Amino acid sequence: MPIQLTIDGKPVSIEDGASLMLAAQQAGVDTPVICYHEATTPNGLCRQCVVEVEGWRVLAPACITSAAEGMVVHTASERVTRARRTILEMLNASMDLSEAPAIQQQMDEYKADRKRFPGAHRRSQPLLDDNPFYVRDYDKCLMCWRCVQACGDDLQFTYALSTGGRGYESHIATFFDAPMTETTCVFCGNCVAVCPTNALVSKTEIFMSRGLDYDAIRREKRKQRRAEKKEFSDD
Ligand code: SF4
Ligand code: FES
Repeated sequence: MPIQLTIDGKPVSIEDGASLMLAAQQAGVDTPVICYHEATTPNGLCRQCVVEVEGWRVLAPACITSAAEGMVVHTASERVTRARRTILEMLNASMDLSEAPAIQQQMDEYKADRKRFPGAHRRSQPLLDDNPFYVRDYDKCLMCWRCVQACGDDLQFTYALSTGGRGYESHIATFFDAPMTETTCVFCGNCVAVCPTNALVSKTEIFMSRGLDYDAIRREKRKQRRAEKKEFSDD
């Protein structure tokens, strides 16, 4: 049964239970997102998609808030714009977003001050290169969970990835921080495909950016596999 609401002054009719993000799309408004991906279950983690609902005390994350009869929603009010800008500035202060073009574009659009919070302590973790298929550079990880969900119930049902630590120390991890080759990972590449920041990068992509052709990439990967097998048998 369809419900009626208003988005930025436009009347919208949409199925009961649809998200505000879908309702906004129907009104011709694309909501900016960071953690949301169409292939994974929305969790409402980043809050970049917030909108203002008249009568509500707090801003509503559009990806996980259901549209309701009679709602009056504003997607570009001063309060919404300021919230989105601040989220971008805080993210930029705490991690490496240099290889996240969609987020960089949002920073330009929302006029985010890239130098705000100069004293912020950036999260830093060692780069993990422990398998022939992809590297994990968690300095670039914004904890959107997309990779964990793609590895688990949303796509692959492999459960090699999980979260570890708490608060400031929370991070994406394998069980007991085991190297990827010692987990249930089947190297499907789904986690790499959904990562928004290039924290996960396929080695083929890295080799190609260095100008290697497919034969050279195959040779390079064979060499790495041999080295890993030797390291394993030496242990
Ligand atoms: S590694 Fe990428 S996909 Fe996984 S949580 Fe971090 S940013 Fe998100
Ligand atoms: S995109 Fe909606 S909370 Fe992240």
